[in-house]
Amino acid sequence: MNGYLLAIDQGTTSSRTIVFDAAGTILGQAQKEFTQHYPADGWVEHDAREIWSDCLALCHKALENARIDASQLAAIGITNQRETTVLWDRATGTPLAPAIVWQDRRTAALCQTLREQGHEALVQARTGLLLDPYFSATKLTWLLDNVDGARERAERGELAFGTIDSWLLWHLTGGRVHATDATNASRTLLFNIHQQCWDEELLRLFRIPSALLPEVRDSAADFGHTDAGLLGTAVPVAGIAGDQQAALVGQACFQPGMVKSTYGTGCFMVLNTGDKAVQSENRLLTTVGYRLAGHTTYALEGSIFVAGAAIQWLRDGLRLISHASETEALARSVGNSKGVYMVPAFTGLGAPWWDPHARGALLGLTRDTGIAEVVTAGLEAVCYQTLDLLEAMVADGAARPTALRVDGGMVVNNWLAQSLADILGVRVDRPVITETTALGAAYLAGLQVGVYDSLESIAGRWRCDRDFTPRLAEPERRQRHAGWREAVARVCKR
Ligand code: G3P
Repeated sequence: MNGYLLAIDQGTTSSRTIVFDAAGTILGQAQKEFTQHYPADGWVEHDAREIWSDCLALCHKALENARIDASQLAAIGITNQRETTVLWDRATGTPLAPAIVWQDRRTAALCQTLREQGHEALVQARTGLLLDPYFSATKLTWLLDNVDGARERAERGELAFGTIDSWLLWHLTGGRVHATDATNASRTLLFNIHQQCWDEELLRLFRIPSALLPEVRDSAADFGHTDAGLLGTAVPVAGIAGDQQAALVGQACFQPGMVKSTYGTGCFMVLNTGDKAVQSENRLLTTVGYRLAGHTTYALEGSIFVAGAAIQWLRDGLRLISHASETEALARSVGNSKGVYMVPAFTGLGAPWWDPHARGALLGLTRDTGIAEVVTAGLEAVCYQTLDLLEAMVADGAARPTALRVDGGMVVNNWLAQSLADILGVRVDRPVITETTALGAAYLAGLQVGVYDSLESIAGRWRCDRDFTPRLAEPERRQRHAGWREAVARVCKR
């Protein structure tokens, strides 16, 4: 059998495709940024058609760069920005409106009303999530209420809802398959994570007709074949997972207690909790880590909305740097931020605070504060936010992990990785392959078609590039964290 696997990694700001061989080596890849639409304050939209046409073109390009053709592929895996909501016409495959992106806050008032009506406990018990505009359900309600004729057409079964994975799968299979996987379903606010099915009561609460919903399959499953006309031959689509869950798989965090953290635009920390769906007392999310052969592995997740985006702001907003890579030398030149704290709450704060009204702040400035201290404070903010998530996980009963596996664009910065270890007081492991999201999707597809025979064989492939051991004395670590908490308290009401 051919061992090549094609991963489609459809992210929030760019789409990427990677061809891996069975050893996990990258043979060829392609990437493209796409248009972000901000039509009103707090609104973020994507053109789903642009996403689909980009992804298809990028599949061709990655194959070309890998010098193979589609007939040599064993399977395709899809991983995607989660929660982003698409509503399309089943007859034409055309979206009825722009996709509403996970960052979009337009349904904050609806969430607030539902919270005031006392629905959050039910929602959390069934879905593991909170009543926040972050998730898909209220975005879909909004589309049904605001797009002309959408609700009636949805009730007649003419429309389909999906997260980006479903949207891509629908088009890859020529409109034959309307499905998703359990990890993506678990981010909609409509999926009962304990019974692994769409929840009738929640569908009623959010007024969602069930005719809209995709079928939910395992993360490694038969998702059909690509339409032969697209890539020149029909290729099985055999793996799907939301990007943070795919990274959990790519990082081989298969044992309960293993934890990974991905540093992109935001930061998402995910802890494998095994068979147990741990309900958080600390406003973390309970979610599906992966579902294989009908067996669900659960996870606790902490979602931070701004990580790399803080560095982007230092570059494009304040123009203190001209390239993100400069941050490492600047941070090294001062060692630490010298009491300066940056709270990057540009669009509110995510876990564990969940304050959509918080806004950012720079605190502790003195006459000695310079560019290096401010930049360093930006990097340290990423570390402190990670520590808040870790503390929340420990408060929820998790054992303090022996190591945190990190990935994403930011962790090439050695100073940041060391500072993370120092501030967390936990060893930080950076793998050789930091494209863990795409790798996870490839692993899932490979598992389904027999390129890999077990999770153990995948775990055996994980290689550490470098580990970072904590070096900060405990009293200093505590004192610096206390300073951060004080800074957060100044901007956040929770
Ligand atoms: O929940 C949102 C997350 O899936 C987005 O990830 O990497 O596309 O910013 P990313």
